[in-house]
Amino acid sequence: MDINDKKKLAAEAAIDYIQIGDVIGVGTGSTANYFIDALTPIKGKIDGAVASSEASAERLKSHGIRVLELNATGQLPLYVDGADEATHQRALIKGGGGAHTREKIIANTSTKFVCIADDTKLVDSLGKFPLPVEVIPMARSSAARELVKLGGTPELREGFITDNGNIVIDVHNLEILQPIKMELDISAIAGIVTVGIFAIRPADVLLLGTDNGLKII
Ligand code: A5P
Repeated sequence: MDINDKKKLAAEAAIDYIQIGDVIGVGTGSTANYFIDALTPIKGKIDGAVASSEASAERLKSHGIRVLELNATGQLPLYVDGADEATHQRALIKGGGGAHTREKIIANTSTKFVCIADDTKLVDSLGKFPLPVEVIPMARSSAARELVKLGGTPELREGFITDNGNIVIDVHNLEILQPIKMELDISAIAGIVTVGIFAIRPADVLLLGTDNGLKII
């Protein structure tokens, strides 16, 4: 099975978590796009969606799915999104697409977070994937120096501005053995808006597409 088939398998399995009349949170990335496509035939079942990025909002609208603002919906029953890395404990690295601030807000406002991915994303410990950190532009240098103190090698994501008007620093060479502590430590740096570690609020369910079919963690 190729990687896209695995992503699709996981994305389609997430449809089973939807209840009639739900407003659901929808993430960003290629796997989330497969989920949006899978929503289309059952769009009459949901009341609308909250998107974690402008790109996902556009894709939802182009499929005729109503897009709502999180401030208008309150707590969501379900959030479905991909990840860049996931552990067996369902801690994640997200933000490869630079959308992790809105993703973290929606994850924290959702009762159930279903993460969908191909099995290449499953790791024993986080950190091989460069850790995305959204930063207020004026804190670019100061935040980078603090990230070096934590053992990382920060690299500015050139030519990239988030949907919130900020920059992204990708932090290489971090071995994240204590994801909650690292999430707290990086979140405490002045000028950092959001770190792409999702460990304080991990996924509740991990749906992985594998050569042998769907794996649920
Ligand atoms: C977006 O900012 C990310 O958090 C995505 O969820 C992540 O990059 C997964 O993307 P793919 O599904 O394209 O691998």
